[in-house]
Amino acid sequence: MTATIDTTTLVELRRGGAMDLEALEAFLLGLSPDTSYRRFLTGFGPRTPPGLARRLLQPGTTGGSLLAWQGGIVAGHGMWAPIRSVHDQEDVASTAEIGVVVADAWQGCGIGSRLVDGLALEIARHGFPRVQAVISAENHVVRHMVARRARGADYARDGAEITVTVRASALEAR
Ligand SMILES: CC(C)(COP(=O)(O)OP(=O)(O)OC[C@H]1O[C@@H](n2cnc3c(N)ncnc32)[C@H](O)[C@@H]1OP(=O)(O)O)[C@@H](O)C(=O)NCCC(=O)NCCS
Repeated sequence: MTATIDTTTLVELRRGGAMDLEALEAFLLGLSPDTSYRRFLTGFGPRTPPGLARRLLQPGTTGGSLLAWQGGIVAGHGMWAPIRSVHDQEDVASTAEIGVVVADAWQGCGIGSRLVDGLALEIARHGFPRVQAVISAENHVVRHMVARRARGADYARDGAEITVTVRASALEAR
């Protein structure tokens, strides 16, 4: 799908922090059940689970987040967090997990790609060699994004979910 809106001027990417809690909460509650499910593998009721927005802004002990802002409203969220993986030989995480979600009205306009670019920079800056994402098997948009960026991705399927692992450097290249 081709982007019809130039989001580079309309949408600004910034690191997320504690002061963004309310805006992120509103963003999460505005997601359609389908989008929520694709990102969180569950839908939300009238409230998000306690602590979720906080953890999405400041994941783990050294992870981080990016928010895409459009006119004072959050239009997208990306996060990265260190995780233990089969590749780890010492007590140091060599893999960062990422997750990305864009507001329904803004999907297909390039925001998700910009968030992934931003996450790739953050992950490279912190020196993680590998990046992982858990996606649902029928999520063809994300599978397309992975295939487009990273040749040699490793796919591990577990029922309806796939864990995709790629070299961090591959994620940067578009
Ligand atoms: C996946 C998601 C984050 C992508 O963000 P986005 O802003 O919609 O994506 P972009 O506009 O940057 O497009 C990324 C690529 O997917 C393609 N694409 C986007 N939406 C598409 C659609 N509905 N159908 C087919 N292709 C699509 C784009 O053409 C683009 O491909 P290209 O790089 O070859 O040009 C967003 O669709 C979303 O929030 N989905 C629900 C949550 C989710 O699946 N999260 C991922 C799990 S971690």
